[in-house]
Amino acid sequence: MRICVYENQSQACHAAAVMIAAQLIKKPNSVLGLATGSSPIPTYQELIRLNQAGVIDFSQAVTYNLDEYVGIAPDHPCSYHRFMNENLFDHINIDKANTHIPDGNAPDLAAAAAAYDKAIVSAGNIDVQLLGIGRNGHIGFNEPHESFIHGCHVVTLANNTIDANKRFFASIDDVPRQAVTLGIGAIMNAHQVVLVACGASKAEAIRATVCGDTDPHVQASILRTHPNAILLLDKEAASLI
Ligand code: F6R
Repeated sequence: MRICVYENQSQACHAAAVMIAAQLIKKPNSVLGLATGSSPIPTYQELIRLNQAGVIDFSQAVTYNLDEYVGIAPDHPCSYHRFMNENLFDHINIDKANTHIPDGNAPDLAAAAAAYDKAIVSAGNIDVQLLGIGRNGHIGFNEPHESFIHGCHVVTLANNTIDANKRFFASIDDVPRQAVTLGIGAIMNAHQVVLVACGASKAEAIRATVCGDTDPHVQASILRTHPNAILLLDKEAASLI
């Protein structure tokens, strides 16, 4: 695992955009694994700028998002479907038929999750997986657990995840308690993993990811065994390593 520490969030997120842009230039029909939350927003802004400037082309790109809440409609203001449209897809020349987000409203969530995994394998696995990290070390919504769960699955969100995500909702009671998340298998099968973490609130999760044992109670620690994973950090997130 490589670690790059930048002066500030803007530089770390810019570096992530450059890596995704380079991948698209090398392979226009790349399969991109995408994340939501605050961390990737500056990266998406830079990708939008590069696309609108004609530097990168998304017309052949295929995307798979990490996760979606269970039980909120795709057009709900806090759904990850809506987030991706507003923060990326509506502003780039991607074919929305090539964008994929787990279905948190499927009548059979387990079957839909299994089909999501199969589709990623059929697409040749993810070329570049963009990740943020939770304060508890989660990647996707793979919460601290006794083991690493390989497949896409329904997860009950940890209390500190619900607390961290309440800022997107009217109140903490409105935050869904469950989500569908890509498992550790698809993330580890990605050819390249790019994790962005910024701010002091991520410092302990980064310390636990980088130091100590690979431990499912800190799910991001599995990335130490990935052959091509990079952490892009600002100084605050890197302050404990
Ligand atoms: C989002 C996701 C989560 C977030 C993490 C950090 O799709 O899978 O793992 O990346 O919760 O969220 P932010 O960036 O909002 O601090």
